[in-house]
Amino acid sequence: MTTAALPLESETINVLRNRRSIRKYALTPLSDAHVDAILSAALRAPTSSNLHAYSVIVIRDAETKSKLAVPCGNQKHIVDCPVFIAFCADLTRIESALERNGHNIGNNNLELGLVASIDASLVGMAAYVAAESLGIQGVMIGAMRNKPEDIANIIGLPERVYAVFGLCLGYPAETPKQKPRMPVTGIVHHERYDADAALAAIDPYDAELKSHYDSVGKESHPNSWTHEVDAKFSPRPRDGLRAALKARGFNFA
Ligand SMILES: Cc1cc2nc3c(=O)[nH]c(=O)nc-3n(C[C@H](O)[C@H](O)[C@H](O)COP(=O)(O)O)c2cc1C
Repeated sequence: MTTAALPLESETINVLRNRRSIRKYALTPLSDAHVDAILSAALRAPTSSNLHAYSVIVIRDAETKSKLAVPCGNQKHIVDCPVFIAFCADLTRIESALERNGHNIGNNNLELGLVASIDASLVGMAAYVAAESLGIQGVMIGAMRNKPEDIANIIGLPERVYAVFGLCLGYPAETPKQKPRMPVTGIVHHERYDADAALAAIDPYDAELKSHYDSVGKESHPNSWTHEVDAKFSPRPRDGLRAALKARGFNFA
């Protein structure tokens, strides 16, 4: 059978190809029915061992969004978006399942913490794509991990739940130019990892990102990507995260 005639395009592929982070929102409200449609689809995401190790908090209240923005570095889009969703890793139901069977989760390890974090991320990305397919756009907020305890207090997360990231959603009031991606030759490998190709992608991307920033009037550096990565990650970001998550009941040990 020849596959030449089978489709290479789909609505989903087009949605993904056109995606970019949106940080400015129209005043158009986002209905509960739309949020329900997005989340009911997203909850069909795969979940490791059928654990459902996540919970999703939908936040509309202006005061709550303002409070959440503070530990997130006062990111204005958190306040401005009509709906903000926290995607949380959640071990509470697993804890209950273990207790019902005479065990406890107190010594949970790195694998369980990762499983819950991956599960939450998959649901979050599925929600993002579902939203985009309806013309609802936004941006993920990893800054929710800046101060996990503050976030937990604001939205009432119990022990064994932490917010992996947030998602601002709304109808877009901007169409920023798409940010270029690292060359595919450095990212996608066939049959075996090609270490030379992986690293060869850096120089062209440094230059492409610089010209992207120049084209949108953003301050740039000759080696834009490596410079940004170094500025952000050489000071060991969120160095207190392991201790903060441990205090929330995730040992990551
Ligand atoms: C897990 C995750 C966390 C992110 N956190 C933030 C954030 O806190 N604030 C923000 O403005 N953008 C955040 N972003 C958006 C990225 O900066 C953005 O995806 C990246 O620069 C690429 O741009 P693009 O999405 O427009 O293609 C996050 C993205 C991801 C995947």
